[in-house]
Amino acid sequence: MEIQVVAGGIQAAKDELIIVNLFEGLEAPGGATAAVDQAMSGAIREAMADGDLRGKKGEVAVFYPRGAIPAARVLVVGLGPQDKFTLQTAREAAALAAKKARELGVKSCSSIVHGAGVGGFPLEVAAEAVVEGTILGLYRYQELKNEPPDRPDLEQFTLVQFDAANLPAVEAGAKLGQIVAEAACLARDLVNRPANYATPSDLADLAMQIASEFDTMRCQVLNEDDALELEMGAFLGVAQGSDEPAAFIIMEHNPGREELDTVVLVGKGITFDSGGVSLKPSEGMDRMRGDMGGGAAVLATMLAVGQLDLPLHVVGLIPATENLPDGRAFKPGDVLTALNGKTIEIISTDAEGRLILADALAYAARFAPKAVVDLATLTGACVVALGRGMAAGAFSSDDDLLARLQAASQASGERIWPMPLYEDYLDAIESLTADLANGGVRESGVGSSAIFLKQFAEGYPWAHLDIAGMTFEERPNTPKRPPHLQKGGTGFGVRLLVQFLRDWAA
Ligand code: BES
Ligand code: MN
Ligand code: ZN
Repeated sequence: MEIQVVAGGIQAAKDELIIVNLFEGLEAPGGATAAVDQAMSGAIREAMADGDLRGKKGEVAVFYPRGAIPAARVLVVGLGPQDKFTLQTAREAAALAAKKARELGVKSCSSIVHGAGVGGFPLEVAAEAVVEGTILGLYRYQELKNEPPDRPDLEQFTLVQFDAANLPAVEAGAKLGQIVAEAACLARDLVNRPANYATPSDLADLAMQIASEFDTMRCQVLNEDDALELEMGAFLGVAQGSDEPAAFIIMEHNPGREELDTVVLVGKGITFDSGGVSLKPSEGMDRMRGDMGGGAAVLATMLAVGQLDLPLHVVGLIPATENLPDGRAFKPGDVLTALNGKTIEIISTDAEGRLILADALAYAARFAPKAVVDLATLTGACVVALGRGMAAGAFSSDDDLLARLQAASQASGERIWPMPLYEDYLDAIESLTADLANGGVRESGVGSSAIFLKQFAEGYPWAHLDIAGMTFEERPNTPKRPPHLQKGGTGFGVRLLVQFLRDWAA
């Protein structure tokens, strides 16, 4: 979809559809919506007076101006009450409007920037949100379907800004929004893509391809022999049961630029989690192709980092492997030795995420980073604690790092919620035979997974985001699901991480 920014009054736009908005509880529309209403001799006010249109969140109304203005259709999207308006409202309104536009069979539409003006947000930020919402809302996963969808993709989206002096701000925001949202859509594709199309090698190839697009970026892929050489025994233990070669992916933006701060992102890259010998129940197991959601977010974030050319040394680490049962697979009771020398007793082969992260976190130390953030679909317990699709669990022993992530969460609308890293959780992962066990007491499932990771995240400020409930949208297709999300991969983490890195670089 092509995105364009033009100056002028939207009532004069000649397009298949124009999109304006309405706050709830107003006597009459304001701003651009008022201008369109006037040009249509009060059609919008009439709908309001009849109670057909109230400006509620989630509401859309379509008008046919029949020549009163150059546009063929007018769509009014509700924003809810003005005092509850946030950037997330703007994203969701944009997503809803874009979906409705596509439903109408429209291929090109123009929109005002929801959230600027009366909304109270700076134009650049609001434009970013509207473009993000539009792209995220229109996303669908089509690559393996033979039949084209009923309605074709939107080809053109135009942001209309009244004052020409403001065009640079809108253009800058639109560009940013497009980069970030398209990166999130890449992460969605990777989560949706079946495990036989998104193997560790496929992820490695994609990482290589992305790195080759930027002079600033380098990518190195360690194979299982390299990992053996390095003594990544925890990662290799998980990989042992799969015939699909594992890959430890290392992406680096601005390598060797020692004057820049180093931030390492680590993403769990289990391309399919069957549970291994501790086999999962078969119901819903297909969704475990999304167990590389953290890795997908890191990979896609690196793409955005390259496009934005952020003045930071950003490292992306993605340990990628399948977790399968096999005659050679690792077993409960086995003891693995991680890169940092710590020994781990396997209680459950289904607690594989923390094993591959253990080696990746230990590897991260060699970059002497200012911060390391890992993202992992780590525990069902986190989903139970916070609720499906509600927030990622955020663990950090560094208050400054946690605060930065919370600020990025606020700005991006991708929710995280702080969770405790009590040392007492260590009791749950005591082992008879090794330094640590990879699981144990059910009631402390999420805390003990985090304290386990902490044993490998030594020598740098670290944060862990458990995104198990966030990468895969499973709610039935009802109006309750926010309009910027579809069933399936969400791309969670990309917008959060890009915001976090942009703020760090600023
Ligand atoms: N990938 C799963 C966690 C998960 C659950 C992700 C639901 C997405 C949705 C992880 O590898 C896992 O199996 N965790 C176990 C840990 C347990 C064996 C200690 C779990 O949560 O049950
Ligand atoms: Mn598992
Ligand atoms: Zn897993």
